[in-house]
Formats: sequence, C-alpha cells, structure tokens
Amino acid sequence: TDEPLVLGIETSCDETGVGIVRGRTLLADAVASSVDAHARFGGVVPEVASRAHLEAMVPTLDRACETAGVALDDVDAIAVTSGPGLAGALLVGVAAAKSLAFALGKPLYGVNHLAAHVAVDQLEHGPLPDPCLALLVSGGHSSLLRVADVTGDVVPLGATIDDAAGEAFDKVARLLGLPFPGGPHIDRMAREGDQVAIDFPRGLTSRRDLERHRFDFSFSGLKTAVARWVEARERSGEPVPVADVAASFQEAVCDVLVRKALDAAAAEGIDDLLIGGGVAANSRLRALAGERAAAVGVRVRVPRPGLCTDNGAMVAALGSSMVAAGRPPSSLDLPADSSLP
Ligand code: KG4
Ligand code: ZN
Repeated sequence: TDEPLVLGIETSCDETGVGIVRGRTLLADAVASSVDAHARFGGVVPEVASRAHLEAMVPTLDRACETAGVALDDVDAIAVTSGPGLAGALLVGVAAAKSLAFALGKPLYGVNHLAAHVAVDQLEHGPLPDPCLALLVSGGHSSLLRVADVTGDVVPLGATIDDAAGEAFDKVARLLGLPFPGGPHIDRMAREGDQVAIDFPRGLTSRRDLERHRFDFSFSGLKTAVARWVEARERSGEPVPVADVAASFQEAVCDVLVRKALDAAAAEGIDDLLIGGGVAANSRLRALAGERAAAVGVRVRVPRPGLCTDNGAMVAALGSSMVAAGRPPSSLDLPADSSLP
C-alpha cells in the first residue's frame, strides 16, 4: 500500500516503547519497562527511568523493526512523545527520534503524550468519531477532553485538582501492602471483595463543588479516607479486609470517573466516549462505563489493556494521523517539554 510507515517512540515515564504502524494498521509494539527497578522505591525514580531508557532504546527499536518486518530505511516518518512527562526520560526519546530523523532524512513529528493515549484507539476501532469525549486516566493525568481532531483540536473540559486516578490506585495499593504499580493488583483483589462494603467519599460531587468543578476530579481526599479507615481497623486489632477495601475504593474512583464523563458527554451533546490511559485497563471502569453509557445511548470505545498503558504504538498512531492530516513536521531542535499542556 502507499500508506505511510510511521515509527513512534515513547519514553515519557518508565516504559521505553517503539511502535510501528502503516496508516492505521499496527505492525509492531515493542515495550521495555523499567517498572521492576522502581518497585522497591514505591514509585518511578526519574534518574533510574532515564538510564533504563538509554539502555533499552536500541534493543527496543531493533525488536520493533524485526516484528514489523521492516528496515529503518523503509520508515516514512518518525514520531516521538515530546511531553508531558519526566524531563530526563523524555529527552532520551526525543534525542533518539531526532537522530533517526536526521540520519534517515525523514520528517520528525513531536506529539503530545495525552493526545497519543486518545489516538491509539484508531488502531483498534478505526477513525475517531468527530467530536468525541475522551476520559484520560493515567498515573500522571486525569482529564476530560473534547476531541474534534486529535492532531490539533483537543479542548480540556476538566482535570484532577490533586492526584491522578492512577496515582490514587498506586498510593492505596501501597497502604494495603500491594506491590507497585498498584492499579492491576487492586483490580485483581477487588474481584474477591464487596464494592459496597465501605462507603468511601466521591470527590467534587457535592452540589457546591459541582458549581466550580463540574468536570474536575479530586482523589486525594479519597486516598486519605482509605488510609484513615485502614488505620482505625489496625488500631482496633481486627484484620483489614483488603479485598473489600480494594473493591470499595475502586468503586469510588470508577463511579466518579464514569459519572462525570457521562455528564460531560450530555453537556456537550457528544454520543461517543473514549477512555484511555493506564487506568482504562481497569476491569471495573470498563464494565461500569459500558453499563451506564448504554443506558443513556452513549457509545464507549476503550483500547485493549495493552494499548492503554504507555507504549510506542500510540505515538506512531498519532504521528500517522498527523501525516494524514498534512500537519507540518517538527524541526530538528524540537524540545522535550515536561509540562506540555
Ligand atoms: O498510562 P500509564 O501507563 O502511564 C502514565 O502515563 O502514567 O498509566 C499507569 C497507571 C498506573 O498508576 C497504574 O497503576 C495504572 O495506570 N493502572 C491501572 C490498571 N493498570 C494500570 N489502574 C487500575 N486498574 C488497572 N487494571
Ligand atoms: Zn501515559
């Protein structure tokens, strides 16, 4: 075919990802994670992540090319996450992408990590509906976005005012003694628990909060409520019902996420909800969104779990959309911008 072959590089956090797509067809998605190196610190250590990216970059590139059955020379464009993310980690990917673009004489596209979490869904479910509402929930972000064009027209409607949803999962997992990153462990534990066992608070849902923060999220109060509840239990000498705490906490997060996403969809008159980012891998979030959206006639799109967490395919997907949309490439002095909006 004559659709462009696009290579995408992702290094914004602890995953070194290299993805290769042709048009909207996924050819390779190689990911090397440094998560084990961070586990004993209970969170991602920026310096450790940067070094791991440096070591993993070339092997991951090789693996992606091998899987896709292409040579670097065949690639038509190089896309890379230029932000937001950890500055040192981003720099490794940006430097690698610039080097490739320069050496191969191919255009370079700096892409926004959050838009890439949205764009990746096209690899699985085809072109994005215009407009669609995106609920983006990861370890670093929790936002509601109105997406008319993922290559440029993305309007934020709301975001977390404190912790990201994934951060809340990780912190609560930690206080329950579960390993980092905690999201998948809470997801698994919760299946054996009762989600109505404990009534944890739903952040920014009081009538007063809704006036100013209708589409914003807050998870730090929830995290504190879980910590207090667990402490009280420990003090009383009774065992902590970990599965019930996990299920009730998870329910509080998912309830607010889905409630606000559907409220935003209704307010914007949008019938398509896309959920992306690492927390979109959560089984309860997927089920609850599916149930409640169906009840109000909203269609839900969620990429498969492996494409929800950070990867290179999402960057390649957005790069491919930028090529298709005729967006101008970035210059070779593209900066890594850790606080890209
Ligand atoms: O998108 P991502 O891979 O990296 C960031 O850009 O942050 O998201 C990572 C986050 C972590 O906080 C992790 O605990 C969470 O996604 N996560 C989950 C699940 N899988 C990953 N949270 C809840 N349930 C899951 N199944
Ligand atoms: Zn991410």
